[in-house]
Amino acid sequence: MTGPSFDALVYAWIGIALLSFVALLRVRAPYGRYTTETWGPTVPHRRGWLLMEVVSPAAFLWFFLGGAGPKTGPAWVFAALWTAHYVNRAVIYPLRLPRSTRRMPVAIMLLAVVFNAMNGFLNGHYLGDPPVVYDVGWFRDPRFLLGAALFVIGAGINLWSDRALRALRRPGETGYRVPEGGLFRWVSCPNYLGEIIEWVGFAILTWSTPALSFALWTAANLIPRALSHHRWYRSEFDDYPQERTALVPFLL
Ligand SMILES: NC(=O)c1ccc[n+]([C@@H]2O[C@H](COP(=O)([O-])OP(=O)(O)OC[C@H]3O[C@@H](n4cnc5c(N)ncnc54)[C@H](OP(=O)(O)O)[C@@H]3O)[C@@H](O)[C@H]2O)c1
Repeated sequence: MTGPSFDALVYAWIGIALLSFVALLRVRAPYGRYTTETWGPTVPHRRGWLLMEVVSPAAFLWFFLGGAGPKTGPAWVFAALWTAHYVNRAVIYPLRLPRSTRRMPVAIMLLAVVFNAMNGFLNGHYLGDPPVVYDVGWFRDPRFLLGAALFVIGAGINLWSDRALRALRRPGETGYRVPEGGLFRWVSCPNYLGEIIEWVGFAILTWSTPALSFALWTAANLIPRALSHHRWYRSEFDDYPQERTALVPFLL
């Protein structure tokens, strides 16, 4: 698939992201603290995370490696960043989650499979055979330098914050505590802030519409969830820090 039909698919995907954003402001995705059995059968959440997230790097690499475009230095860097993120998200992250009784609806897992397959396809297909080849001069382009810096900073914030959340529970515990330290001093969900910065960085460093669509999807998923978490913390903890905002220090 090339040219106008691929572009149309990317723009349609961006349109669906915007609709999802509106829907997610009203309906909380039922996993984690909002998990429910009213969405039908469930799977253990560690297994769910692994199965749904592994689809993204698999689809990306399949279409990237199968693409007819030259595999230049920048193209390999793009593939390495995508794969590194998903080695963490699909394998390391679920394996480090506690073996609790927490489950997620199969429906959510399947929606995430579709989401990950589409994002992996769009980005792998585009970067595996881009309309304009990224030659080594791209490494000196300000877009590459700025985007790479944002990607690394965002990934660092996301990894640190996810680890801080995991450390809140002692073995066997399933309840919630108020997270402290790092960017938690200012926001309730720095893991989501880091993830959004990371994919905005990827969109800038590849300067491509498929990567932009993924950054918008990430924001569409995580902004409503951060607002929900923030409201949830405030309702659950009377002493929740007043100065803390949901996602962006002092702003949101
Ligand atoms: N790119 C995207 O579109 C996208 C979409 C979704 C998620 N993600 C990423 O996936 C990762 C996980 O997302 P998530 O929505 O599951 O994050 P989350 O709701 O913040 O939960 C992360 C983990 O920390 C635990 N946890 C959270 N707050 C806690 C607290 N106050 N006390 C004790 N434990 C706490 C959760 O336990 P419970 O499960 O028991 O609540 C879960 O195991 C994040 O890094 C996020 O950025 C990306």
